[in-house]
Amino acid sequence: MKIMACNSNRPLAEAIAAYLNLPLTKAVVRRFSDMEVFVEIQENVRGEDVFVIQSSSFPANDNLMELLVAIDALRRGSARRITSVIPYFGYARQDRKSGPRTPISAKLVANLITVAGADRVLTMDLHAGQIQGFFDIPVDNLYGTLVFNQDIQDRFDGEDLVIVSPDVGGVVRARGMAKKLNADLAIVDKRREQAGVSEVMNIIGEVKGRHCILADDIVDSGGTLCNAAVALAEEGATSVSAYVTHGVLSGGAVARITSSPLDRLVITDSILATEAVRVSHSIEQLTIAPLMAEAIRRISEESSISVLFN
Ligand code: R5P
Repeated sequence: MKIMACNSNRPLAEAIAAYLNLPLTKAVVRRFSDMEVFVEIQENVRGEDVFVIQSSSFPANDNLMELLVAIDALRRGSARRITSVIPYFGYARQDRKSGPRTPISAKLVANLITVAGADRVLTMDLHAGQIQGFFDIPVDNLYGTLVFNQDIQDRFDGEDLVIVSPDVGGVVRARGMAKKLNADLAIVDKRREQAGVSEVMNIIGEVKGRHCILADDIVDSGGTLCNAAVALAEEGATSVSAYVTHGVLSGGAVARITSSPLDRLVITDSILATEAVRVSHSIEQLTIAPLMAEAIRRISEESSISVLFN
């Protein structure tokens, strides 16, 4: 087995490799002066089971291109099997035609990864589970709740908890978390009147006097979470925290979260934290490295990874 990293999140790749007690495969992933991506793998990969780690996070297009070129380099280097390990699968929000003459970019990206030569994909909290079906190769989709639930249990042991979906689309995810934690479920009925602007309408469920935990897959502008937190606070929640797998946190998201009623936002390291995230007192990061590494080990040994879901 070999572990190779592109440039989106070297610390996560290094942590995964360390967990597996393997060095990262020697490779150069760099740019020509016109910004074309160039990859050179500097050790033999012929016949190897190679896992290439790369999130298609900001800058999404550059990082995606690095992944595609790396897969091509591995294929041409005669790797036996190539698994794209994509902790954060970008473009996933474009998973259906949202209007006339709009793309389904999640499907396009799935095609690109497959055509480049990936044999399988390992990812986490796809925006919609059905995106697995956009690939004609096997996709293992891990869940952030596997790392979040322990943290929630440690912090809120014995408290009156309610897991809150910040929008109707996230109900299945929040319900799964509530079930595992033996907590109640509430839903924020959010209407988005304009692209990029979220508006809270209504809370379904009992939140007054209770510790509310918002659960989501992505926090990008922070608008969804902050609006939900305001609504929950106005409804009399005792505290409001959020557990979100992918901290995209673009634009003024960190400042928005810091000045919101959210007590804490917990994210994973599926995306490399910016300096603003690292120094923020409102945002904490939990690592997915052991979980990803364990899944990689099991894929390589061709043993079951479903035990990781329990
Ligand atoms: C929406 O369906 C997603 O699950 C997230 O709620 C959304 O992408 C978050 O975006 P933002 O932080 O920009 O409101």
